[in-house]
Amino acid sequence: RAALAGRIDALMRTVPDYPEPGVLFRDIMPLLADAGAFAEVVGALAADAPGPIDLVAGMEARGFLLAAPVATALGAGVVPVRKAGKLPGPVASQTYALEYGTAAVEVQPFTIPDGARVLVVDDVLATGGTAAATVELLESCGATVVGLSFLVELEALGGRAQLPGRFVDALLTIA
Ligand code: PRP
Ligand code: HPA
Repeated sequence: RAALAGRIDALMRTVPDYPEPGVLFRDIMPLLADAGAFAEVVGALAADAPGPIDLVAGMEARGFLLAAPVATALGAGVVPVRKAGKLPGPVASQTYALEYGTAAVEVQPFTIPDGARVLVVDDVLATGGTAAATVELLESCGATVVGLSFLVELEALGGRAQLPGRFVDALLTIA
């Protein structure tokens, strides 16, 4: 597990002032482009799942890249959690504050059976705004969110505090 965290750390780029001044952006694209590391990360996210999973929910856009392979590894379906206006209705919506800007997330509630056990997967946990809004959105649709799994947690931004009582997994935690 420490070896995997080290591998993730070594493959990420850290980009100052992107997408705006003052943000230290963690770029996971070189990790996704490394076949071995990508497979290892997907396997670890699936292995960490807390019990049986019916659906994996991934956040647009980078979350999609992880949620879909994790879903197939778990034998689960995938639900895209999209930014406003990208899904044909009917949709359920939830607004939230981002590290940079504000936004709304949407899902199609008819894709989520009542009581479905959902694992939320995304690349980065930063302020937790996206993740908290996603949990609220999915549970408003009747899902049971059993946990959230991230490639990277940016601990200083306090995202975990937005997810009290939740199972929160991160393959790499950056202080
Ligand atoms: C990033 C990241 C998470 C979210 C984390 O996505 O992929 O979804 O921000 O930030 P938070 O914890 O402060 O909410 P972004 O909105 O930049 O979209 P993208 O994946 O389309 O680049
Ligand atoms: N890196 C990648 N995604 C992000 C970040 C970051 O630093 N902050 C919010 N989303």
